[in-house]
Amino acid sequence: MSTEFILKQIDGAVAVLRLNRPDVLNALNIPLMDQLIGMLEAIDTDPGVRCVVLTGNDRAFAAGADIKEMAEASVVDMYERNNLARWERIKKVRKPIIAAVNGFCLGGGCELAMHCDMIIAGEGAQFGQPEINIGVIPGAGGTQRLTREAGKFRAMELILTGRFFGAKEAASIGMVTRVVPDALVVEESMKIAKDIASKSPMAVRFAKEAVLKAFDGTLADGLDYERKMFYMLFGTEDQKEGMKAFIEKRKANYTGK
Ligand code: HXC
Repeated sequence: MSTEFILKQIDGAVAVLRLNRPDVLNALNIPLMDQLIGMLEAIDTDPGVRCVVLTGNDRAFAAGADIKEMAEASVVDMYERNNLARWERIKKVRKPIIAAVNGFCLGGGCELAMHCDMIIAGEGAQFGQPEINIGVIPGAGGTQRLTREAGKFRAMELILTGRFFGAKEAASIGMVTRVVPDALVVEESMKIAKDIASKSPMAVRFAKEAVLKAFDGTLADGLDYERKMFYMLFGTEDQKEGMKAFIEKRKANYTGK
């Protein structure tokens, strides 16, 4: 079901979630984030959905955290509310999430896109971590995730100046999967999502987990983890079906078992 700030549509095994505060360029206030996270968690346990596309509208994916909501807060308020702790729950979603980005993708919006597993951007998309311009810094992972993608020297410039950068530049630093014409952003994202949805769900889940491990620990830990996940897939019917279908030269039919 859709909520006030998140519109939900199901297309086959793909859920399309649309951020919906158009009057304020989808500024991420607390109710919106609560609704989004609640929906992602519900989807994660819904066997009918295998992939998520998260999008905004033509003007904005999201122009950041809601500045009006936090402008008057004290450090104690911020610390006590600890609103950003809930973002950890996005990281725990096991199904793949594709961010389909048009327009502004700034501050917390850019951080939200970077929580996703892929970013498909329209040619006119504008990314940025402009928090420095309002006296703060990124707070939902921007200093860490952007730096891992862009490297220290490029991330430093982007975060210390807060300048916006286009989809092509975002792709050149590795934070955008693919740049497509603005009008095709959702369509292209859906194509990828449907392709992913046709695979073995357990293999997809383990692949996502293993890729994310590359960011969290050492190479040795990641390699060990990946190997174990690989072995574990041999306990699924889908592995048997996938390999058998290859040998029999036919398309595999994955059931998620
Ligand atoms: C609250 C916002 C907003 C935001 C835009 N709006 N961004 N409201 N929080 N982040 C509102 C405006 O106040 C305005 O409302 C309406 O959306 C349209 O925006 P305009 O500024 O009139 O549009 P435009 O002139 O086209 O400029 C677009 C813009 C600009 C360049 C994107 O809106 C802008 O700079 N926004 C703030 C970007 C930013 O600093 N983001 C980082 C936020 S801090 P009214 O009522 O006037 O029509 C952050 C911290 C992350 O994200 C921490 C972890 C989550």
